[in-house]
Amino acid sequence: MNQLSRPQPIPFIDVAAQRRRLGKSLGEAVERVFGHCQFINGPEVAQLEAALAAFSCARHVVTCSSGTDALLMVLMARGIGNGDAVLCPSFTFCATGEAVVIVGATPVFVDVDEATFNIDAASLKRGIATAKKLGLKPKAVIPVDLFGQSADHDPIAAIAAEEGLFVLDDAAQAFGASYKGRRIGRFGLATVTSFFPAKPLGCFGDGGAIFTDDAELAHTLRSVRVHGQGADKYDNVRIGLTARLDTLQAAILIEKLKIFEDEIVARNDVAERYCEGLGNVVTVPRLAVGCTSVWAQYTIRLPGRSNRDAFALALKAQGIPTFIHYPRSMHQQTAYRDFPVAEGGLGVSERLSGDVISLPMHAYLDEPTQNRIIASVRGAVRA
Ligand SMILES: Cc1ncc(COP(=O)(O)O)c(C=O)c1O
Repeated sequence: MNQLSRPQPIPFIDVAAQRRRLGKSLGEAVERVFGHCQFINGPEVAQLEAALAAFSCARHVVTCSSGTDALLMVLMARGIGNGDAVLCPSFTFCATGEAVVIVGATPVFVDVDEATFNIDAASLKRGIATAKKLGLKPKAVIPVDLFGQSADHDPIAAIAAEEGLFVLDDAAQAFGASYKGRRIGRFGLATVTSFFPAKPLGCFGDGGAIFTDDAELAHTLRSVRVHGQGADKYDNVRIGLTARLDTLQAAILIEKLKIFEDEIVARNDVAERYCEGLGNVVTVPRLAVGCTSVWAQYTIRLPGRSNRDAFALALKAQGIPTFIHYPRSMHQQTAYRDFPVAEGGLGVSERLSGDVISLPMHAYLDEPTQNRIIASVRGAVRA
């Protein structure tokens, strides 16, 4: 195939299209920060926190340096450490369990639901029993709203209440989604999100935020964020981090948040078109009753006995990128394989890691481009 006949490559996420839509507003926002030069904790940080609180209806929002640091900060603020168990789904990005290990606690991995890919309540119960048998103190559960879809929060909250655990919702991929009519941000003690550029609401670097209705926790988080500061930054009342969100990133996020509602609608239109075009050839993601998604990923499952590598190569030859989220569940990773798993095993997580593959997904995926992807997927599945 020569250069001219090669199919035009399609971006997996089209950040440039979003920049075009935002026009001069991003540059002007950045210029304002250059104007006042308050690069750390400038006025845009508090403005963004207020805008995120209004969007999510959470009482307190504490922005920070990344989604991973957001998880870490909540665990640190609650004094989680050695001898404590934190229940996490295994089918997730590594940061979920990583933060638990960093504070010295033990992640206990539990399985996910085959239809939604989110934490399975029955496996969570088994994981708590496993933790207790090992002499660990179960202290928290971190449900993940995977690929943008809200987890089934009511049964998780009920188990957590019964067992005296707090819920730390990992919504790194799902800010903007909702559960039973309520926006993510108020389920459990605290919710975290990530503003990594590829996330539905992403900045131009690393960033994150924590949402909580608990004033005392918010106060502690603000201290943890700046070296455990007390009255001022030279008064250190606890061990903390350098975990602030840069003013520049806050300024960018303020502009992006203005179009986010619109983008969520567009992402849902894209998901709907994929569902119509692919629903009869692959297993397409389904929304559980009462859950909405912001479609951080559009992740399909290939029919049994398909060769996933060959499928990805066939799409690549058509200029269509794919990613595997995630080729190994956390308990299958070298760094995490010695941590406990819930009794009964994690068969669903292992199956999903074996057959999922994600297609291009973003708010600016136009219909002709998407039709090209759909036709290529259908062709590659048949081949
Ligand atoms: C489920 C989940 N949790 C946590 C994180 C960590 O976020 P960050 O990359 O901002 O540290 C991510 C990022 O991909 C994620 O997908």
